Amino acid sequence: MTNIAILGFGTVGGGVYEVINASRKKPLCEVNIKYILDLRSFPEHPIGDRVTNDFSKIISDESVKIVVETMGGDTVAYKFSLEALKAGKNVVTSNKAVVDKYGEELERVARENGVVYLYEASVGGGIPIIAPLNNCFAGDEILRVAGILNGTTNYILTHMQSDGKSLDEALKVAQELGYAEADPHADIAGLDSARKIAILSGIAFGKYISYNSIPHIEGIENVTSEDIALADQLGCVIRLVAVAERVGDKASILVAPHLVGKNSLFHAIREAFNAVSVTGSAVGEVVFYGQGAGSLPTAAAVCGDIERVISNRVSDSERVPCEEGFILNGDGNSKFITLANGKKYRYFE
Ligand code: HSE
Repeated sequence: MTNIAILGFGTVGGGVYEVINASRKKPLCEVNIKYILDLRSFPEHPIGDRVTNDFSKIISDESVKIVVETMGGDTVAYKFSLEALKAGKNVVTSNKAVVDKYGEELERVARENGVVYLYEASVGGGIPIIAPLNNCFAGDEILRVAGILNGTTNYILTHMQSDGKSLDEALKVAQELGYAEADPHADIAGLDSARKIAILSGIAFGKYISYNSIPHIEGIENVTSEDIALADQLGCVIRLVAVAERVGDKASILVAPHLVGKNSLFHAIREAFNAVSVTGSAVGEVVFYGQGAGSLPTAAAVCGDIERVISNRVSDSERVPCEEGFILNGDGNSKFITLANGKKYRYFE
């Protein structure tokens, strides 16, 4: 049996309980959720008696091997993750804000303490992409990582097209379905996608890249129903795409709404689904597709990390800080198309 603690019993933390509870596979079915850290109480929940608001209890309990951080935010979540690693506990998280801001430090502290800091669920919800980038693609040179990485905006763009909903109407439903961030501005303005492409491109290019260093982050605020209809006439859909590509020995990274043509697999990505395309110099293009947000898909990725910690099957590549000038200002290899109303969009293929 492996004892774990879940910090934050919201959408993802609650999902982690569900996935573990339903598991019939060793070692996951033998995981014991010993503590749940939350300020709320859950008297009706089957393991509501494990809730505490005292983090020191978790830190001082040597039987807790894994701390699952599903709190959100980047202050207390960071502090608790750091303390847990220093106390010799493995940390598994879905928190892209903490990974983006403090990943370099937390991975270093994990190494120093002989434990691991894993964050598969921080990008692409239930899609396995971090472990494949770290492992399966390790022998190839990555030329491009591109993705529809935000379920909320994809849901909104899908419904603006299919049933003429306004951005605000579609956002409201995405919030009710548990896809959106606590502050949905991060979704709509492209910041959530930027954090995710920063994490992915950092691994792909062997560096630590923060979303702060991405020169162009544009959300979907200015995408109109007219743009979507005009794009449709060209056989395209509009999608929020994050692109990181090699340009010589540097990289171009951006987040922006793109016209996506029929020949791209991204054309078929609807609702809150995500897709990630990885192009390697030897392998060519590989595409990952799946549920990019929501309780159970994200929890499944968290549980995959828990399983890998217990089975001791973790391998990642050490990275270096991102040197000044590595990320180019500008558009790299972007192509543009002008719609009949004069609005210019990048084209994704
Ligand atoms: N708000 C995020 C999204 C949640 O919509 O994709 C998953 O990271």
